[in-house]
Amino acid sequence: MTDQEGISTMTPRILAFAGSLRRESFNKKLVPIAARAAREAGALVTQIDLRDFPLPLFDQDLEAEHGMPENGKKLKQLFIDHGGLLLACPEYNSSVTAALKNAIDWVSLPASGEPSLVAFRGKVATLMSASPGALGGLRGLVHVRSILGNIGVIVLPEQIAVAQAHEAFNPDGSLKDPKQQAGIDGLGHTLASFLMKLKG
Ligand SMILES: Cc1cc2nc3c(=O)[nH]c(=O)nc-3n(C[C@H](O)[C@H](O)[C@H](O)COP(=O)(O)O)c2cc1C
Repeated sequence: MTDQEGISTMTPRILAFAGSLRRESFNKKLVPIAARAAREAGALVTQIDLRDFPLPLFDQDLEAEHGMPENGKKLKQLFIDHGGLLLACPEYNSSVTAALKNAIDWVSLPASGEPSLVAFRGKVATLMSASPGALGGLRGLVHVRSILGNIGVIVLPEQIAVAQAHEAFNPDGSLKDPKQQAGIDGLGHTLASFLMKLKG
């Protein structure tokens, strides 16, 4: 069976992005590595940049007066259209970035008559992080895992935090450490395989 775009309904769809707006973001560099591995494992991966979906700081009054902004609607539809989430999450002050949390808060809003958390429930996520620090953003992933788990996302147990990120990448975008490169590849591959098993 195929969907409206002629893609097999058995093909897992993964939405991949970083929780950073920064142009030279290290986390943005992790995304294409894992995304390529997921594609090689048979998934259809949509890579986006949160910078392309600017959203106001979430304010319930703003939402009550003006509704969901267009970028919120677009982002939410992307979440709805994909069963998997491949997220590279920077750590700010030991936690999740405001950009990522703000996006999650907007996307979590139900439209009238819509089931709650329709963009999140039953999705499967894989997390990774990169930081110039020694822990690679690991502490932030604890919070991202908790937030996503509480809104119905199955977060896979494997995760990788790339420490000393300012020295970790080759000019071609790959990771200098072959074990780290294989690890990030593995995250993409595992997410695609997990989603296929769910469909099988
Ligand atoms: C406000 C702020 C807080 C930060 N807090 C942490 C932190 O708690 N742990 C850490 O490892 N790095 C921290 N950093 C450094 C970030 O890891 C670094 O800026 C990183 O490059 C951000 O990810 P990106 O390159 O994907 O944008 C912080 C940076 C900023 C701007």
